[in-house]
Amino acid sequence: MPEFLTLEQIDQAVNAIRAKTSLVPRVGMILGSGLSGLADLVEEPQIVPYTDIPFWRISTVQGHAGRLVLGTLEGVPVMVLQGRTHFYEGYSMSEITLPVRVMKRMGAEFLILTNAAGAINPDFEPGDVMLITDHLALVAMMGFNPLRGPNLDEFGPRFPDMSQTYDRELGVVARQTAKNAGLLLHEGVYAGLSGPSFESPADLRFLRAVGADAVGMSTVPEAIVARHSGLRTLGFSGISNKANLDGNTLTTHDEVLEAGRLLVPKLSTLVRGVLKHL
Ligand code: HPA
Repeated sequence: MPEFLTLEQIDQAVNAIRAKTSLVPRVGMILGSGLSGLADLVEEPQIVPYTDIPFWRISTVQGHAGRLVLGTLEGVPVMVLQGRTHFYEGYSMSEITLPVRVMKRMGAEFLILTNAAGAINPDFEPGDVMLITDHLALVAMMGFNPLRGPNLDEFGPRFPDMSQTYDRELGVVARQTAKNAGLLLHEGVYAGLSGPSFESPADLRFLRAVGADAVGMSTVPEAIVARHSGLRTLGFSGISNKANLDGNTLTTHDEVLEAGRLLVPKLSTLVRGVLKHL
């Protein structure tokens, strides 16, 4: 498997999807752990299993169905990933961000990223939603930047700006949607780590000291690749657990999946509200 996918390989994946559907997505969506249920909202869905798409990797994680769902939502053509792959599964950064580049080549203008995250901000509770206003790209800072390797000029420049990775106008729409629906929407900084081990109490105290509000194992690579290619990105963290800064409680994947049940209806309200405004 190549560490760096080429434009030709990305387009092979695009062509495999185009062979199954003529839908041109305007919005791409990636659903995090326990959030696959959001794909059930898609109308007249056309399903493409990940195994039918060259170079497209399959998530080995429970709570991530491996299907691409294309259809409409609030009248907007969408392409929804029911489950994502993660760096900790052993895939390359190029592989885990392939779906974002495929979305761009298929015609998408917008990307909605969702994830399950641990709360570092003490005001957040399991089941709450946080609008991601910025991220700490800790994995990228350690050298695992998804743009490492030959630059694909068709998508964007060698040294892309990351000052507005999360689109401000989409953030305004998300806040307004939450307000109209009477839904509590926190906002803050998402720290992206590699996982798969959860953080130690010292890791968490470090993350709090450097300004993180939530922590997880995804999203940042996809957001960097989206920004590089000019996709306008909106990100939501579904809070699944409180980070355990004092080391007195354990964190489990089961609580992450359990919180998903509370989070799917809230995220569906937010996503529908945003799509109505596009
Ligand atoms: N840490 C990292 N990733 C996570 C967490 C967490 O506490 N909860 C859900 N994903």
